Amino acid sequence: MTRIGFLGCGQMGRAILSGLLAQGVVQAEQILVAAKSSAKQTAQQFEVKAVSPVDLLVEADEIFLGIKPYQLHHVEQWLKDSRVQTRLAQSKPLVMSMLAGTSFAQLRLAFNNLVTLIRLMPNLPAQVGHGLTLSCIDPQITEEEKATLVTRSRELLQPLGHVEELPKESDFHAATAISGCGPAYLFNVIESLADAGVHEGLPRALSLRLAAHTVLGSGHLACQEHPAVLKDRVTSPGGVTIAGVRILEQHGVRSAFFEAVIAASQRSRTLEKG
Ligand SMILES: NC(=O)c1ccc[n+]([C@@H]2O[C@H](COP(=O)([O-])OP(=O)(O)OC[C@H]3O[C@@H](n4cnc5c(N)ncnc54)[C@H](OP(=O)(O)O)[C@@H]3O)[C@@H](O)[C@H]2O)c1
Repeated sequence: MTRIGFLGCGQMGRAILSGLLAQGVVQAEQILVAAKSSAKQTAQQFEVKAVSPVDLLVEADEIFLGIKPYQLHHVEQWLKDSRVQTRLAQSKPLVMSMLAGTSFAQLRLAFNNLVTLIRLMPNLPAQVGHGLTLSCIDPQITEEEKATLVTRSRELLQPLGHVEELPKESDFHAATAISGCGPAYLFNVIESLADAGVHEGLPRALSLRLAAHTVLGSGHLACQEHPAVLKDRVTSPGGVTIAGVRILEQHGVRSAFFEAVIAASQRSRTLEKG
């Protein structure tokens, strides 16, 4: 049985764990979770096993690393344990790091070159099987090993939603600014659409459902057809929708999203430089 560990199991770790369990990709008895103080509670919630970070590194074959980037220094402490060192040296387990802005070079250093690395950037909708996971395999891994890792990572990640394999590690900054940060932008959009509906007299719950399902359906369509073509199709001459589009243009909504993505991408580059 392959043991899958969640080393740091907060917001994102739990989103992936619940997605994997819900989709039946893994069984609860395969899972180990370690956290600073919440491991037991998470283990109870998902009926999985809570262990210490050291025990997780000794027992797990495949590890989702879900601590915060600034907590990476803890790895050095865990690697001081002789059981961890022996285990890693023997089997070079797979570590799938979700740490934003943390490069392969930083991860290799932290794990003393004793693990096989994939960088991931999941997003929150993974929790409901509609996530987008960016994935990149350590360029130092041989082409032969890469093929096996691509297959295995797809097996684990596709049930969580769409997977994009990034050819270059440096693409993470811009890609994360869209798909990692995008849910926060779109939650803002949904909330403001719903607020406006309430202003116009709709009950709050109804207004929220309308806004959320509109974003959901529009996203599905935009996966198939160019958004400009779709926008033109729903804006009839002199109609209601184009009157609303005019206001969005007046308030620079496109420009705001444009700048938000650039700011997030640049922030990611800055964080990586430390
Ligand atoms: N949230 C997102 O939308 C998102 C999107 C993409 C990528 N990410 C990346 O995912 C990672 C996790 O983010 P998050 O939002 O899930 O953070 P989070 O909710 O703060 O989770 C961090 C986890 O790490 C654990 N932890 C902290 N220090 C530890 C230690 N010394 N030993 C063991 N466990 C420790 C925490 O334990 P406790 O629960 O006990 O505090 C918690 O379970 C980050 O690196 C982030 O860059 C997040």
